[in-house]
Amino acid sequence: MGRLIVVSNRVGPLKDTGRAGGLAVALVDALSQTGGIWFGWSGDVSDEGTFSTLKKTRARSVQMVQLDMTREDYDGFYAGYANRTLWPVLHYRLDLADFNRKFERTYRYVNERFAARLGPLIEPEDVIWVHDYHFLTFAADLRGMNVQNPMAFFLHIPFPAPEILAALPNAKSICRAMLAYDLLGFQTHRDAHNFKRFAVEEAGATDIGDNQLRIGGRVVTARAYPIGIDADAFSKLAMSPDARRHIARLEKLMGGRQQIIGVDRIDYSKGLPERFRAYERLLEDYPENRGRLSLMQIAPPSRSELDAYIDIRRELELLAGHVNGRFADLDWTPVRFLTKSFPRRALAGIYRASRVGLVTPLRDGMNLVAKEYIAAQRAEDPGVLVLSRFAGAAEQMPEAVIVNPHSAEEVAAGIQTAITMPMEERRDRWQAMFNRLCEHDAIAWSRSIMEDVKAISR
Ligand code: UDP
Ligand code: G6P
Repeated sequence: MGRLIVVSNRVGPLKDTGRAGGLAVALVDALSQTGGIWFGWSGDVSDEGTFSTLKKTRARSVQMVQLDMTREDYDGFYAGYANRTLWPVLHYRLDLADFNRKFERTYRYVNERFAARLGPLIEPEDVIWVHDYHFLTFAADLRGMNVQNPMAFFLHIPFPAPEILAALPNAKSICRAMLAYDLLGFQTHRDAHNFKRFAVEEAGATDIGDNQLRIGGRVVTARAYPIGIDADAFSKLAMSPDARRHIARLEKLMGGRQQIIGVDRIDYSKGLPERFRAYERLLEDYPENRGRLSLMQIAPPSRSELDAYIDIRRELELLAGHVNGRFADLDWTPVRFLTKSFPRRALAGIYRASRVGLVTPLRDGMNLVAKEYIAAQRAEDPGVLVLSRFAGAAEQMPEAVIVNPHSAEEVAAGIQTAITMPMEERRDRWQAMFNRLCEHDAIAWSRSIMEDVKAISR
């Protein structure tokens, strides 16, 4: 069997350093099992850019191969088309999207350059697996170089309804380039359905059933493969000495109060201002909670040079200050807003010490935090997950308290339901979700995509 070559913008680290982001976390889980090559950006900007020497490092069975970008590549590809155009559009935020032809040109160019650098490393038996919105056009570039290997793609973020995507200039041509993959994986059935609709209605593909599209004499598979976590390992992490130290520190700090936990990169897709307002609403509508609950929001900064991210951070600082100013007492701080990241072994303990996991994105591909929160709970006394209906995870976790994140009233009522939920009901809901997480874990996820792409190419 050939090697697995994974391609993504961010590569590694394989160690638990606390760098936030679901993609890297999931790929570490998947690649450490299979071994292979992980190819992508080095994180460095240099004058040579994609013409720089490849940086090669090996960690266990994974060889990491990385290259630089120039400042111009970074601005047009990463800070431009990927994060000012595609990210907002794919998260249904046309109001925040910047449609700039130069961004798109640089995006296509960087895809081509990465493909040109990967090409010589590919051996005939290799399977290539490309990840996320940075590399939508990558397979088309490799095919242009006559690479015939099986190629799979997985989109970690949502794929919007065609009515939204149509606003993206050249959406048709981007979609046609995506059809150069043999298999396209999405987080949810809704995302896969949206893609198929767009491909048929706008890009000239024919739906031939069984999750398959025909385009120009080729057949392409497009379907949902909801991403999983290594649930067993994460649940053990929550009992590790490191996690236990965090639990002890928190329990001392809380002095018998209950903690609600939120963990999100600072990103407008995560619904954080709405969440803070909903928490304020909880303290208004259910005053018995004052002095008895606190919200800890862990919020590592992300893409901090982009205006939309600077604005949302400022808004959150104001809101946290506002809620604390309004409700805090000598011995009680209602909101703790921590703008730094934690390693996952610390998060595991923090989740376990929290009675409610609050995950309320306005749109999210999957949301691994929701899954990690469940995996970290004590079977005998589990906490309750309050989950946005717009997170991909909601398709697989219907036993969570499902809420509409746009409604402060509904989220406040959801939190109230969670903190007053009887033990037996908490256990039943938790057990159902935990069993499903163990069955559909990270390994099952990557294995099913790999099996399908190999079967197709045979
Ligand atoms: N994460 C982390 N440290 C932090 C915050 C988050 O390691 O301080 C991890 C978290 O455990 C999860 C991932 O980052 O595995 C976030 O993934 P998710 O799907 O929730 O959101 P994304 O950031 O991919 O949008
Ligand atoms: C999400 C995306 C990833 C991305 C991560 C962190 O998880 O799906 O592709 O790597 O956010 O964002 P960043 O821009 O720092 O890579």
